[in-house]
Amino acid sequence: MKILRAYGIALCLSACGWAAPGLAGQPAARPWNDTSLSPDRRAALLNRELTVEERISMVHGIMAIPTRVGPIPAAAIPAAGYVPGVPRLGIPALFESDASLGVANPGRVRTGDGGTALPSGLALASTFNPALAYAGGAMIGSEARAKGFNVLLAGGVNLTREPRNGRNFEYLGEDPLLAGTLAGESIRGIQSNHIISTAKHFVLNDQETGRHVVNELIDPAALRESDLLAFELAIERGRPGSIMCSYNKVNGPYACGNEFLLNHVLKGDWAYPGWVMSDWGAVYATDFAARGLDQESGEQLDQQVWFAAPLRAAVQAGTIPASRLEDMTRRILRSMFANGLFDYPIERSEVDYAAHTQVARNEASEAIVLLRNRDGTLPLASSVARILVVGGHADLGTPSGGGSSQVFPPHTDPGTIIPLGGGKNMVFQSSSVVAAIRARAPKSTVTFYNGSYVSQAAALAKQSDAVIVLGTQWTTENEDVPDLTLPSGQDELIEAVTEANPHTVVVLETGGPVEMPWLDHSAAVLEAWYAGAGGADAIADVLFGAVNPSGRLPITFPASVGPLPGFLLPAGQAFAAPHPHGSAVGYRQPGSKPLFPFGYGLSYSHFSYQGLKLASAKALTVSFDVRNDSAVAGKEVAQVYLTSAAGESVKRLVGFTKVELAANSAGRVRIEVDPRLLSHFDEKTQRWHLQKGRYDIEVGASSRDSALAGGIHLREAWRKP
Ligand code: BGC
Repeated sequence: MKILRAYGIALCLSACGWAAPGLAGQPAARPWNDTSLSPDRRAALLNRELTVEERISMVHGIMAIPTRVGPIPAAAIPAAGYVPGVPRLGIPALFESDASLGVANPGRVRTGDGGTALPSGLALASTFNPALAYAGGAMIGSEARAKGFNVLLAGGVNLTREPRNGRNFEYLGEDPLLAGTLAGESIRGIQSNHIISTAKHFVLNDQETGRHVVNELIDPAALRESDLLAFELAIERGRPGSIMCSYNKVNGPYACGNEFLLNHVLKGDWAYPGWVMSDWGAVYATDFAARGLDQESGEQLDQQVWFAAPLRAAVQAGTIPASRLEDMTRRILRSMFANGLFDYPIERSEVDYAAHTQVARNEASEAIVLLRNRDGTLPLASSVARILVVGGHADLGTPSGGGSSQVFPPHTDPGTIIPLGGGKNMVFQSSSVVAAIRARAPKSTVTFYNGSYVSQAAALAKQSDAVIVLGTQWTTENEDVPDLTLPSGQDELIEAVTEANPHTVVVLETGGPVEMPWLDHSAAVLEAWYAGAGGADAIADVLFGAVNPSGRLPITFPASVGPLPGFLLPAGQAFAAPHPHGSAVGYRQPGSKPLFPFGYGLSYSHFSYQGLKLASAKALTVSFDVRNDSAVAGKEVAQVYLTSAAGESVKRLVGFTKVELAANSAGRVRIEVDPRLLSHFDEKTQRWHLQKGRYDIEVGASSRDSALAGGIHLREAWRKP
């Protein structure tokens, strides 16, 4: 053993660029390069070599966008962030890129560089398919690595509490089990490339209006059972190297200086071993370090670079213990070792965009949700003579959402960017729906009309055998939408077209839920979200039946919305956003009938459920059969809901699985339920409490569909968070 270890070091002396002993300040050897040691041990060995100056240099980083903040160091790659390394000790720099949905290029600072856009986060969530989350993460991780990045600002897992939130498209819907599972898999995929992913934004960053001043008020137990649970599940599955804390306040203090969130929950209860980085411009004081923040990011956006000279002074004065600064760098190093940043240095390489587009297309194919299909309008026959496509810039491509997650197509065609004024742009991924429809229906006459005049659109619709009208909604970081209509008169256009031609199919490309005043006149409705590179082909595949739709809504489409906190306040004026319903987010909130419920989506197949069995040994297991009763192969998302817990009426997704079934075939499903989903968080004991009593379970195809029901008695159990 000893000999092997010595050999490992000897090998590293030549392979790791170790300088000859005797140079000033060089350690005699680099024992932390021994890959047989644990990341904790390696981090501890290296951490003790750092000087205070070196530590300080590691705990703050710049926004690396020259067009916004001026010159950046020559070594930095223009992108969201950069933290220099410590060459004396062989510590690599952190090259940080936004990558929620693909490798971003903010303001296209890297001239000519683009990336493969995955469908939006809500689209991924609609797949209910963890394998696709992993594949998408692995793809963007490899692309990021090829472009020189080793930290991805990805893993957005904020629950949708506000349907108008401009960033809903980046996240994974309203349910903690679904969002946490998929975020975890996506992070795992990213980190399979020996780079680091974050999970973000910790926590309750659920609206963009007033995101720097809003105080999110919530009962702490309810927070554990909802938004925190989504993070807890994502962290358990994905083991992200870093957590990005959010802009907003939570129950008083800012999230990035929040003792309860960072020290108590994340690092205490969950024993999270990685580091907490701030969101860009989210730090307000040096003592955020004492409250659990390990690294200040995008430092030019803060009033001061708190974690440079002020932190050094605080450590010298002893107001922040030196041990805390040591802990901050130890955590950063620990994640760098755990994720291979030392052992697999970044080497730039070529990207296979065609292969990556296929990954995005596969995801889009399972993300599209069929919301309505009157009299089997869809799939369309490829023999339809005259097809009219209206609106949505369907000749250009599929839209994407704005902000830091914006991905520009790899070979950007200037025609795909539509300026919206005020420096805002709507970017279309080069994937034309019109071209994709033409390819699927080569014998049809396919006409495109941009929809400028409603009367013209209606007249053309009357002369067509089938009409596909697109409705788009652009949403972006930093602002919420005022309501759930389709902007720029598109509802009026769709109303006129659906009235003119009863065979009209509406394809929505939206950032989140919208109202559908024209719904009753439409023959079919598809929600395609922001479908990403390859999205247009996926839409055409579903329209013509090459793909059987299997997306399900990860978010409630509400019938109406109430007031949006802070919406009309002057910018910068602080306000509170109370959450009186606590953990009852979206479908869990009892009340009026939604337009479309969580979990809903149709298929070209027909599925039925039989044979429910509930058993409880170590955990509750739910088993049942799903049958495809139709002549069409398809995929069903079987969903398991808790409907009552020890006498309390509840509604909670406690399990799901996507099953692929050939025509007229059946399969048995077995789902093990995480006991936390059956429990309440008990504030007094700070434990999950599963009460003794009867638990009722329903199984079906949505939160409002109960194909099977049963109950079981469970014993009392307590569990550490
Ligand atoms: C966003 C983060 C992003 C960061 C860096 C912030 O404005 O909230 O999601 O990672 O900018 O671009």
